[in-house]
Amino acid sequence: MNEKKCLAILDSYREHGGNIISLLQEIQESFGYIPEDVVFWFSKRLNIPASNFFGVATFYAQFYLKPRGKNIITACCGTACHVKGSAPIINKIREELKLPQGETTTKDGKYTVESVACVGACSIAPVFIGNKKVFGKMSMEKAAEMLKEIDKGKGK
Ligand code: FES
Repeated sequence: MNEKKCLAILDSYREHGGNIISLLQEIQESFGYIPEDVVFWFSKRLNIPASNFFGVATFYAQFYLKPRGKNIITACCGTACHVKGSAPIINKIREELKLPQGETTTKDGKYTVESVACVGACSIAPVFIGNKKVFGKMSMEKAAEMLKEIDKGKGK
């Protein structure tokens, strides 16, 4: 744990009078996710039960309790995308990236593959998002191209 970072966040929290959400946002901004030991550190300093932090962090999808990869691949798993065959494509991508069962981030921290509910673009299902770029009407071939594109780009 980086105590210097925590102290800087604590100073800002005290100075600007924040709340749990703003504190979690600052922690995530600084660490890239919400590390458990950091939550306990703040819990002790601020005398706020750690369960309050975890309650908020797990309620909002914007917070991550595990480190995320440098490259983020998001697969829509809403009904339309599922019907149009998103599942085998996700499996293929996971296989390509050698992602162990039950894990969302590769061991080298390069990729995170996550699923979300309908992203609101059902007319171009199945929809995938690779580093914020939308790939509609996804196919196995397009998925391979997306991975190549991501691999060539930033975050390598
Ligand atoms: S179900 Fe995937 S965009 Fe709607």
